Amino acid sequence: MSGGIDARLAGAVRRAQRVAVLTGAGISAESGIPTFRDAQTGLWARFRPEELATPEAFERDPRLVWDWYEWRRGLVAAAAPNAGHRALARMQARVGRFTLITQNVDGLHQRGGVTDVVELHGNIHRNKCFAEGVVCEGRPDEGERPPRCPRCGAPLRPDVVWFGESLPAAALARAEAAARDCDLFFSIGTSAAVYPAAQLPVTALQSGAILVEVNKDPTPLTRLATFSLLGPAGDLLPRLVGAAWPAE
Ligand code: OAD
Repeated sequence: MSGGIDARLAGAVRRAQRVAVLTGAGISAESGIPTFRDAQTGLWARFRPEELATPEAFERDPRLVWDWYEWRRGLVAAAAPNAGHRALARMQARVGRFTLITQNVDGLHQRGGVTDVVELHGNIHRNKCFAEGVVCEGRPDEGERPPRCPRCGAPLRPDVVWFGESLPAAALARAEAAARDCDLFFSIGTSAAVYPAAQLPVTALQSGAILVEVNKDPTPLTRLATFSLLGPAGDLLPRLVGAAWPAE
């Protein structure tokens, strides 16, 4: 089903007591961070993220992969949360139980005011040891690219989930519990193509929740969604939150 922001949708959002939200790269697109499945620009245009975000790529050419993440870190550092991130922080303040699950590694939800974020794919600001997986706090010495683990000397890698790797178990368990136990689930700015994250909206639907999708383009979820809002999240989410809780 599809439609705009009407009274039925605004009422469903206002009445919801347990809300779970899944976000993807689309919510940060209006902050200037490229999504995964849109074309890259400039220097990196000839690489596909799927070719760089793998353990095999890092083993083959650690500097290339490190430098790509350094480029993404630079974009994230220069970016600011947008109106979509901020609208979700306002929603958090209004809803009894609110769980924000993200596939993004950019930390923009936290900077936008959401206090508890379930990060399914890690965080680009952290590094961990490629050999042992131990997280390395702080910014490592920049002498070498990639820098080395201070404990064992193996190269450091970003603490993000790469293709072919498992998701952090605790984060996935929290996300699945929230999907099973919500009355309203939002899928926002994700192509719903990468599992297990893409299963979460389906789990919520099967558990009886209302599913609201917000995306610039249709996805495989669109035909399943109870409400589908087609357009930019930075425009639609503030309008939806404003319609659900009009200023008193
Ligand atoms: P994708 O790049 O696959 O999808 C982004 C989605 O956002 C698309 O459906 C776009 O149409 C939509 N979109 C773009 N701009 C938007 C806007 N302003 N407002 C609303 N929607 C917009 O990104 P993800 O679904 O996040 O995983 O990708 C999932 C995972 O695949 C990523 O976390 C990453 C990647 O491989 C790992 O790195 C493990």
